[in-house]
Amino acid sequence: MNTAVLGLQWGDEGKAKIIDSIASDFDTIVRFSGGANAGHTVVSDDTKFVFHLVPSGILHPGKKCIIARGVNIDPFTLVEEIEKLERNGIETKNRLFISFSAFLVLPYHKYQDTYQERRRHIGTTRQGIGPSYTDKIDRVGIRMYDLLQPKIMLEKIKFIYNEKKNSFPGIFEMEDIHPEPLVEQIIEASKTIIPLLTDTRVMLLESVENGESVLFEGAQGALLDIDFGTYPYVTSSSCTVGGIFNGTGVPPDLLDRVIGVAKCYTTRVGEGPFPTEITCKKKAERLRERGGEFGSTTGRPRRVGWLDLVALKYACQINGVSELALTKLDVLSGMSSVPVATEYTINGERLTNFPENLHIIRRVTPVYRELAGWNDEELSGISGNVLDYIETIERFTGVPVRFISTGAERDNLIRR
Ligand code: IMP
Repeated sequence: MNTAVLGLQWGDEGKAKIIDSIASDFDTIVRFSGGANAGHTVVSDDTKFVFHLVPSGILHPGKKCIIARGVNIDPFTLVEEIEKLERNGIETKNRLFISFSAFLVLPYHKYQDTYQERRRHIGTTRQGIGPSYTDKIDRVGIRMYDLLQPKIMLEKIKFIYNEKKNSFPGIFEMEDIHPEPLVEQIIEASKTIIPLLTDTRVMLLESVENGESVLFEGAQGALLDIDFGTYPYVTSSSCTVGGIFNGTGVPPDLLDRVIGVAKCYTTRVGEGPFPTEITCKKKAERLRERGGEFGSTTGRPRRVGWLDLVALKYACQINGVSELALTKLDVLSGMSSVPVATEYTINGERLTNFPENLHIIRRVTPVYRELAGWNDEELSGISGNVLDYIETIERFTGVPVRFISTGAERDNLIRR
């Protein structure tokens, strides 16, 4: 069963934990979208690994890992990540494969991100993601295969560098960056990267033809998707199911199963609408601390709120989710009751579908249903009130909950 694991909220749903728990069932694990804005945390044998680009499946010996064409890759972050894995005794040779066609995120993208963020206030990770996807669409992106032609790459970068200087006066004032030394650094990084480059589309098709199975590792979440998210407060990539096909080149009928991951409450980093956000500072602080809700890429405190079933149903519909994974149920354990939003109102009118219109979504008021809280005993047996909570989600979304995460450790995961 070729399977996708996708985030259903604003990222940070705990996808890495689910991926880690099922990775051993697959031959190949693939990242298909986003970039080093993602931070996938896995705790293994007391060591905490945070992956930004390499699929977290790399922790499973013998598995092949692919960074496909849809991922915009910061070559320097990638080399750092590979070196850290090697230092921890985790082999990447003949296990990690990178698409020839993937686009690069370069330092000028990060400068542009920071420069634009001062005026736009999206709350980006400043990893250069938006500007690098913009360059792709604008047809001035640098691709992995350009690493093989350093002279041509230098000419391209000189051209882009000048365009950016003209379009964004003062963009490079923060630090001097020049095309020649940048290309030298890229050439240095490419010594590690070039041996890993391949046609990952063909590789994937051939492995499936040989009866092997593939796990597609999503990054970010449906509500951050460039098309379906709360635009413009989104990332610049396709983090929903469609991103798999554009981001890898495999056809849709290759995908058998979609696991959607949702936290049993909601978090968001950065700006943008968040209907179920907890507005009481103290309450929010308590939940943030309990849940350890601080960004794994930027360390920023995450905004926190209650589970939003209207948004969750929308995310399930867009992605064709066949199974749900619910995470962090232990964080809410011990509460007397747990609110979940089942619809919104605006100007006295009921809304049961998630509105794609920013002017509406930022003004809706959620209508909550109070569900009875659970204790640790109920949680470990998935019985009583926690079972009610799970069944309410299943009824509302029409999707069965197959995975329940009850803690950070690998073992704290119940399969139903
Ligand atoms: P960008 O992807 O850095 O351009 O940021 C755009 C928005 O997506 C910001 O609100 C970020 O906080 C958010 N974002 C990007 N990647 C992640 C992630 O992996 N988890 C949570 N939020 C993210």
